[in-house]
Amino acid sequence: MSEPSPDGVRSSFFGRRHGRRLRPGRSRRLDSLLPRLRLVMPAEGEALDPAALFKPAVVDVWLEIGFGGGEHLAAMAAANPGIGFIGCEPYVNGVANLLVLVEQLRLGNVRIFDDDARLVLSRLPEASLGRIALLFPDPWPKKRHASRRFVSPENLDSMARVLRDGAELRIATDDPLLVRWMLAALIAHPHFAWLPRGPEDWRGGAGRARAGPPPWPRGAGPSGRRGAPSRCRPRRPRTRPGCWPRSARSR
Ligand SMILES: C[S@@+](CC[C@H](N)C(=O)[O-])C[C@H]1O[C@@H](n2cnc3c(N)ncnc32)[C@H](O)[C@@H]1O
Repeated sequence: MSEPSPDGVRSSFFGRRHGRRLRPGRSRRLDSLLPRLRLVMPAEGEALDPAALFKPAVVDVWLEIGFGGGEHLAAMAAANPGIGFIGCEPYVNGVANLLVLVEQLRLGNVRIFDDDARLVLSRLPEASLGRIALLFPDPWPKKRHASRRFVSPENLDSMARVLRDGAELRIATDDPLLVRWMLAALIAHPHFAWLPRGPEDWRGGAGRARAGPPPWPRGAGPSGRRGAPSRCRPRRPRTRPGCWPRSARSR
């Protein structure tokens, strides 16, 4: 378990940090490229200024929690060069994959935190992010592991705190149990309201262009996964956010 952050938040990451042995090129990137892109926590008492992580300056900073192999993050960073992207992922093999993509696509707007996203959330200033993506989080299907699911009242509190007015929270899953769990948590949370205007909001079809989020960037959808992200657009995340849902199973 990692050290607690200065405000006492400890890593609560329960997944695996290592997979198959890395090929030499990937190990080399972890040694040479990751130190240049790694988000290093400021010392106790110092604020984490997300915009200051990026040079040249960026107009906004977006966070992706649990980016897996980084396909979505890299595609979003390539499509939005004026935005700074912070990706959190403790799984080393996933980080190594993102480093390959960063190099291939020559991305200068990506920073990586290779540990529990909660540690970053706890250090970010209030209203400092324009978007958070939480795509296909681990479903932890067993009842006794339910407390490990990332969408919890505490983590929703943290995300509402760091999202700016007009920001977006994008959540996707293809797990039928988790979609119900996540929507129930959002509906119950005082800072997120589920505001369906009709089935087209979550089934796609005619309402898609009007209400739904853009689809995955071309080629960025996690392989074999179905579903577009649900989108929350809080007007004031700390008081009255709103959530525009999309079915996790819609195409
Ligand atoms: C099921 S995978 C999905 C990966 C990717 N988002 C995708 O759609 O392919 C969930 C990922 O979240 C990561 N993860 C789980 N808990 C996390 C946490 N507390 N902070 C950051 N990443 C986390 C895991 O390591 C894993 O790579």
